[in-house]
Amino acid sequence: MDINQACEAFKKLLEEQQARIAAMDCTKTDFTTKKVVTIGVVDGDGIGPIITQHAARVLKKLLADEVEAGSIVIKEIQGLTIENRMEKGQAIPDDVLAEIKSCDVVLKGPTTTPHGGTLESANVAMRRELDLYANVRPTCVPELGIDGVCYRENSEGEYVLGSRGVEIPDKLAMDFKVTTDAGTRRIARAAFEYAKNNGKDNVAIVTKANIMKKTDGNFSRICHEVAAEYPDITAEDWYIDIMTANLVNEARRSQFQVFVLPNLYGDIITDEAAQIQGGVGTAGSANIGDRYAMFEAIHGSAPRMIEMGRGDYANPASVLKACAMLLRHIGRTEAAGKLETAMDACSGLVVAPEGITAKKGDCVIVDTARGEEFGEVAFGSRQVKESALVLPLRKVIRIATDADVDHNKENKKKEDEAFKICSEKIAKHGLDMK
Ligand code: IPM
Ligand code: MG
Repeated sequence: MDINQACEAFKKLLEEQQARIAAMDCTKTDFTTKKVVTIGVVDGDGIGPIITQHAARVLKKLLADEVEAGSIVIKEIQGLTIENRMEKGQAIPDDVLAEIKSCDVVLKGPTTTPHGGTLESANVAMRRELDLYANVRPTCVPELGIDGVCYRENSEGEYVLGSRGVEIPDKLAMDFKVTTDAGTRRIARAAFEYAKNNGKDNVAIVTKANIMKKTDGNFSRICHEVAAEYPDITAEDWYIDIMTANLVNEARRSQFQVFVLPNLYGDIITDEAAQIQGGVGTAGSANIGDRYAMFEAIHGSAPRMIEMGRGDYANPASVLKACAMLLRHIGRTEAAGKLETAMDACSGLVVAPEGITAKKGDCVIVDTARGEEFGEVAFGSRQVKESALVLPLRKVIRIATDADVDHNKENKKKEDEAFKICSEKIAKHGLDMK
């Protein structure tokens, strides 16, 4: 590509982005009046089918009456697999996308994106196709006073043209970051509305506007314009670098309530926040648009866990948190509350194996024989199989049920104890999944 060709390519990108703004449709789905709500369940790749099926089981249990009455339809959607996507050469094959668009909300397992090549991430494609512009990711660690929510812009920034950079081979390459007024205004609105409706009085606007003067500069300015309509809420500017530092500063991090930020900073900082909470296996993610919404775990498909035969160790906590968000989004607050209560009830459990220091608030069950995949967040196959709701949500540890550890009578005993206690706690909340 020479400079003239690159300029042509750039012109086309600008035109496409203008067309995207023109096509933004803000007709909202109103779940309070909708007679039938259709929930799509998409398995994904790697550990996706394992954790998503547990979550679907929980959803079906919680919504059984409504499914029976026909006011909720749960639709299993096949085909969003790496094999099918590669074969069709599409991030989301047309027939799968049509199925997804026939639903109101979707629960999606993680999908694999190959390194290199041309296949776009299914995740990014879905966010774009359904115009899911708000990525909402809560972090809550009551014992540390942390209770924050990130409103990550989810449809533009560094992602929207992520596969469309231009280059002059062996000389230079350029990627693009896109901030639109309309796109920023709607994410800012979502963040401030959340703050207002949830008694929060501070919103942190996180950018690098001292360097990215156009895109982040506009992002900050527009957030402040929206903030002016919320006089009871303080809007503060922060740069992303110091914010990442603040989040590991115990004296500062609990002061933050709501964050609003461009896509890539949001991607990074929500993994950091999840790690503070206990790891990415403990964090759910809501991708909200006006018409559609999609709910998922914050983490990926963990192909190494599958390669090592450890798929059943994947922690379904994150996808179950996503389920609770889904239920709230469609106005099923009672079902959401039941699920959250059951998860919370299991998070105070302490079962400490030798050599591990546990304190109250941890659920500690460790596979001592293996390296860590999701840090300390994975837990055991047996629990996952028998009850999808045995959920240590903060410093989650794993119950060892591998062959290596099965021989360890001590661990086995602890595992049985933990399983029993968790099952009892869950049953109390009417959610016994056995
Ligand atoms: C996330 C993930 C995705 C992202 C990947 C899978 C495309 O990291 O949801 O945070 O970068 O947004
Ligand atoms: Mg991420």
